[in-house]
Amino acid sequence: MSDLPVVSTVEDARARIAGWRAAGRSVAMVPTMGALHAGHLSLIAEAARRAERVVVSIFVNPTQFAPHEDLDTYPRDLDSDRGKLADTSVALVYAPTVAEMYPDGAATTVTVGGPAEGLESVARPHFFAGVATVVAKLLIQCAPDVAVFGEKDYQQLAVVRRLVRDLALPVEIVAGSTVREADGLAMSSRNVYLSAEERRRAPALHAALADASSAMAGGREVEEALSDARRRIEAAGFAIDYLELRDAQTLAPLREHGPRSGRILVAARLGAVRLIDNVDVPALTKT
Ligand code: PAF
Repeated sequence: MSDLPVVSTVEDARARIAGWRAAGRSVAMVPTMGALHAGHLSLIAEAARRAERVVVSIFVNPTQFAPHEDLDTYPRDLDSDRGKLADTSVALVYAPTVAEMYPDGAATTVTVGGPAEGLESVARPHFFAGVATVVAKLLIQCAPDVAVFGEKDYQQLAVVRRLVRDLALPVEIVAGSTVREADGLAMSSRNVYLSAEERRRAPALHAALADASSAMAGGREVEEALSDARRRIEAAGFAIDYLELRDAQTLAPLREHGPRSGRILVAARLGAVRLIDNVDVPALTKT
């Protein structure tokens, strides 16, 4: 059993972090919902490069799940997660209870417009208010210098950046690159829900995005490149929720690819499992 300290109250988390501050240490935070995998470990490694102490939060946040989603079955195993952190430089796990995070009568919600509009919000209208509220709470509770969020959840990253900017929260948001399986599938805690056959088909999602990105970078029309990708993803058995090119910074829809960096974002269902992914489309430079 790992001896990594775990605290479950705001008071205890603040006391530990205040101790680090008193000793002059900088602090980085990696917010997670647990079910840790290599993708989380790479965010933690990034956090450790940025600060002297790393706190990881593990909290399956009920307010970002709709009633029909997988809140009850979402994988939870604190001991196993703690074991996975044993050989990392994490100094503290903050694993609050739902009652600690949302005390009786909690009536404050943070909502973000702009980058939260469209894409994930169409199928999951509740989602970003839940994320923004819990992320605001975690950042206020732990007051890190730096917080690391994965590019795998690209829209979430953009929403968190906007939240931090608009509320002037004194924290730097750092993006961690997506970690992929050898066949290209983005690592996700939900990949465990894929059947063997679905797992075999799943890499088609990233392959189609990567080819669409290269095609756009080579000057192909956006709609043509997206149509090809759509056909390939559907041929692999997915039902697509969205597949779009957006501005990489603002997430505004892009009909043409030009001098600004783009991002192709997708959400698609394979059987009962909903996967998301995204890839960069480098800005076109005039020659
Ligand atoms: O990406 C996640 O795991 C969650 O959405 C987050 C940021 C920890 C908020 O609950």
